[in-house]
Amino acid sequence: MKKVYVGMSADLLHPGHLNIINEARKLGEVTVGLLTDKAIASYKRLPALTFEQRELIIKNIKGVENVIPQETLDYVPNLEKLKPDFVVHGDDWKDGVQKQTRQRVIETLRKWGGELVEIGYTKGISSTQLNQSIKEIGTTPDIRMKKLKRLMDAKPLIRILEAHNGLTGLIIENVVSKRNNVNVEFDGMWLSSLTDSSAKGKPDTEAVDLTARLHTLNDIMEVTTKPVIYDGDTGGRTEHFIFTVRTLERLGVSAVIIEDKTGSKKNSLFGTDVEQTQESIGNFCFKISSGKKARVTDDFMIIARIESLILKAGLQDALKRAEAYIEAGADGIMIHSKEKSPDEVLEFCNEYKKFEKKVPLVAVPSSYSSITETELENAGVSIVIYANHLIRSAYPAMMETARSILENGRSFEADKNMMSINEILNLIPGGK
Ligand code: SPV
Ligand code: MG
Repeated sequence: MKKVYVGMSADLLHPGHLNIINEARKLGEVTVGLLTDKAIASYKRLPALTFEQRELIIKNIKGVENVIPQETLDYVPNLEKLKPDFVVHGDDWKDGVQKQTRQRVIETLRKWGGELVEIGYTKGISSTQLNQSIKEIGTTPDIRMKKLKRLMDAKPLIRILEAHNGLTGLIIENVVSKRNNVNVEFDGMWLSSLTDSSAKGKPDTEAVDLTARLHTLNDIMEVTTKPVIYDGDTGGRTEHFIFTVRTLERLGVSAVIIEDKTGSKKNSLFGTDVEQTQESIGNFCFKISSGKKARVTDDFMIIARIESLILKAGLQDALKRAEAYIEAGADGIMIHSKEKSPDEVLEFCNEYKKFEKKVPLVAVPSSYSSITETELENAGVSIVIYANHLIRSAYPAMMETARSILENGRSFEADKNMMSINEILNLIPGGK
């Protein structure tokens, strides 16, 4: 019996996949190399189903003899182990990200006289279409909440952008760009207190209460499926925070970040220009552990945000707090800074690397914006949050239009800087 290897993600199975397996089994005994979440996330969106779910399905498909994990997009490690006579794949990988992968398959098979067999792409159905339909169906709180942890397991760095209404949520949900020929997109949304308050014309002082913030959250959740990290400010009083935790968890938020300040809260980026008081380590640990106890599931995360660098309390204080917060049960540590240079954050990261007990690190490079994602990743950061960027880009554009109308006594001059009426009418599908 000849050995046949088929690498696949097998997420949204459709007749195209069955066709490939069917053709493969005509050639011999089929082993499916099932791409792990990590392998898939290295070049496209995380699959809707977990590895275990996909494995269960694929094992039960007629013609599949064995299922083994394929840990990388690259086939070579599995091919070297298995030395198959054939690799069967759809003919849709000759261009794009998988082009190199294909070339390496051909070269590796050549070593033992194996052959690549390519099957004509099944027309009329594609994973992209199915993904679109899934997005239209939406998600559930449970699936959405768990997604952040799944992403963190699958990707070295999670990329989060601020949303403050349904429209900005949609941008984060849908925008895709290319970096080094690979599709890149945002992994989820930050429900920033600064931008939510600003959008409501209020200061970032916890004046916008939980009820109002939940309205924004609901607007965003209604039109998106990606995970949400909620900016919980100071978390408020501990006896109230436990209710906040329950509420956010029930709604499908993946994580809340609370900052170790007390009393009248001001935005961190004011630094020491305003009166701000850091909470005692003991009190803040109590808040963290109370929040942890209030959770219903293990999936909801409570991330502790350290303000020591913001308040000029120094690196040692930041490190001491990180240790204590982790001990109290924090599921992540956010280290914040308002310096132009990333040095103090990187210094923290370096010392943090030496910790015995570590949790994922979060960075918010608003002021030290020159740092790249690769640099953050190398420093050990797991989540990068672009905390205020959509509102900061929208506001100047809106101001400019308002000014132009006043200056010119008509809107004609502003037209060139705006999307067309047709575009705004069709921006959100379903309006017709
Ligand atoms: C926010 O976005 O509201 C934050 C981050 O808390 S910062 O504005 O930098 O304090
Ligand atoms: Mg905030």
